[in-house]
Amino acid sequence: MQLGKAEVLSTRRPRPKITVVGAGNVGATAAQYIVEKELGDVVLVDVIEGVPQGKALDLAQAGPIHRYDSALIGSNGYDESADSDIVVITAGLARKPGMTRDDLLFKNAEIVGSVVEQIVARSKSAILILVTNPLDAMVQLAWKKSGFPPQRVLGMAGILDSARFRTFIARELNVSVENVTAFVLGGHGDTMVPLPRYSTVAGIPITDLLPADRIAALVQRTRDGGAEIVNFLKTGSAYYAPAASAVEMVEAIVRDKRKILPCAAYLNGEYGVTGLYVGVPVKLGRAGVEQVIEIRLTPEEQAAFQKSAAAVRERAEEVMRIPGPDGKSLMHAELKIGDSIFMLSDEQPGRGCRAPASVGGPTSYLYIYVPDVDKAFKRAVEAGAKVIVPLSDMFWGDRFGQVEDPSGHLWGLATHREDVPPQDMAKRQKEFLASMGQQKK
Ligand SMILES: NC(=O)c1ccc[n+]([C@@H]2O[C@H](COP(=O)([O-])OP(=O)(O)OC[C@H]3O[C@@H](n4cnc5c(N)ncnc54)[C@H](O)[C@@H]3O)[C@@H](O)[C@H]2O)c1
Repeated sequence: MQLGKAEVLSTRRPRPKITVVGAGNVGATAAQYIVEKELGDVVLVDVIEGVPQGKALDLAQAGPIHRYDSALIGSNGYDESADSDIVVITAGLARKPGMTRDDLLFKNAEIVGSVVEQIVARSKSAILILVTNPLDAMVQLAWKKSGFPPQRVLGMAGILDSARFRTFIARELNVSVENVTAFVLGGHGDTMVPLPRYSTVAGIPITDLLPADRIAALVQRTRDGGAEIVNFLKTGSAYYAPAASAVEMVEAIVRDKRKILPCAAYLNGEYGVTGLYVGVPVKLGRAGVEQVIEIRLTPEEQAAFQKSAAAVRERAEEVMRIPGPDGKSLMHAELKIGDSIFMLSDEQPGRGCRAPASVGGPTSYLYIYVPDVDKAFKRAVEAGAKVIVPLSDMFWGDRFGQVEDPSGHLWGLATHREDVPPQDMAKRQKEFLASMGQQKK
């Protein structure tokens, strides 16, 4: 069978296999919409024992009434997800009182990182759809972690933001939501960039139908759309529209619709942005992102887009940065023995990280994680690098050393050897500092 570029879906199975990770509000609702549309068989995965199993069985029992034959399995493991065609990742925490944005970012990065690892080990050709927040950073992390081509890793945000905008426009003008299209670019939520010029009612731009102040009010309500619902619900966040948005992406892929939808997609020069996931219109089909659609923007729109992309980049880089060996470091959650990775280490006052500024150097330098640091260190020295910190086994579970290259740049070279539990980290840090005759401030 000739599938051209679209070889992702297996021809062996009668129905595509769709795994939804996270059987909470968004995940379970997405599973429901998927089977109601008979887009495929569903595997629902969650860490809470019994929840994915119970919800999957309950949903299967709605099948005779809603007339769907899709098979549903719930599991606390990933073996059942093997050979999935599409994986929707909703696993994660929502922000709770007392939790900082960083706590959520690092916790969800840990969760998404481990989910992606489990998935890619079993489904090498899957398309990953990220839903977990903060969305733009999570999709970037998932792509890096998966090693998949960017066409097969994308995030859901723009469909939801534009669905909210469409709802408000339709209500304002008292017309069917079906007549309303809306265009939203950029990051999710606060930094989104709605484009009223390209938002229409039966083909008529809303700029011809509504005064500027009303449009601005609708835009603001859309931007705050998630918070408005959290304020009502109090104990959770929106899930019907988010799940419907994720399932629209699943449908475009499964049915190879080549639908133009706003998604968080990897940009490689498009819109003047390189190496970053940002919300843009893409053509979505069986191969995943088949094309990033570039539209002409006015200088103001382009500036707003750039601002949004800069905010997204900052967040994405935050995920990959080392906050210091304080036991909560993403580095330790992220790295597995033998991994090779680049990291930019900034000085983190008060977090226990001995940054080069504290010994009179610059404020940041690159860590390079390699499978065999002894070999890499020797080669660097042979090539003329000066030893700044000799190789040694560090308290946070790395073998680490630092060199300065002939142009004066500092490089940290390391191999990650063990994952140190938080309680051991503080103890080791204390011992380490004592051995160096220093006191942590
Ligand atoms: N991108 C968007 O536009 C958008 C919209 C809505 C919600 N979200 C995000 O989606 C995520 C899920 O929202 P929700 O309302 O369904 O939350 P929820 O709390 O109802 O569900 C999250 C589920 O993830 C599970 N989970 C946690 N760690 C896991 C792990 N390691 N492996 C598997 N499952 C794990 C939890 O047990 C829970 O059942 C949140 O991060 C939320 O902010 C994003």
